[in-house]
Amino acid sequence: MKPETHIFDDAILAAHAVATLIQELAIAKQQQNQTLNMAVSGGSTPKQLFTLLTGNKYRFAIPWEVIRFFWVDERCVEPAHPESNFGMTYDALLQYAFVPAQHIFRIKGEDIPANEAVRYANLLREELPARKGVPVFDIILLGIGDDGHTASIFPDNMALLNSEKLVDTATHPVSGQKRITLTGKTINNADQVVFLVTGKNKSGIIREITRETSDALKYPAFHVGNYVGEAALYLDAAAATEI
Ligand code: 6PG
Repeated sequence: MKPETHIFDDAILAAHAVATLIQELAIAKQQQNQTLNMAVSGGSTPKQLFTLLTGNKYRFAIPWEVIRFFWVDERCVEPAHPESNFGMTYDALLQYAFVPAQHIFRIKGEDIPANEAVRYANLLREELPARKGVPVFDIILLGIGDDGHTASIFPDNMALLNSEKLVDTATHPVSGQKRITLTGKTINNADQVVFLVTGKNKSGIIREITRETSDALKYPAFHVGNYVGEAALYLDAAAATEI
């Protein structure tokens, strides 16, 4: 990928920048009488962003009713489980934001993973506009793991980047936890892809990815570019130390 890189003094400022971007996109869609189709990731970085979005600066300024929430990936657990990405998003954001229930399209982590991957792919086909037969998100929010994974596309299963499917099953390489994830095909078809990455532990990966070194090739996140729109990295100074 050749993302645009934005660096902020700290993680909160990086999250503010992404929150402002979401606000601007939602307002633009509202003015056009359209909805904003957004897919969100799990993990600790989005949690900080979601918490920020419930603060007064954004909670009453974002036209929540135009945002339709989808998920980039889900851990195969019940929605009330502490590791559920939906559960985290609900607890940190959705219970406070004014998002209509019919605009929340969660991945059902409690269902049989292979069946749920098919159901979610069909749902994306029904709910989203398409470009060349592939559903198009307005924006996808991604993170990058310490091992260079993004979504639930891990370095030991790079095939998910080029899967013919829109949504597939995955397995966490260390815990063995089952996951359901958007594939490279779906992610790369989005209008806009935003990576929010913070913390010193990500600085090595960020160095490789931004310098486009040969080591970067083994990181799934490196291969998530965007062929039709924009890809951007939002970093805090700690993650950007080695650029
Ligand atoms: C997940 C995520 C995953 C995440 C990265 C970064 O469900 O685990 O969707 O891809 O974005 O692991 O996570 P952190 O923000 O916690 O580092």
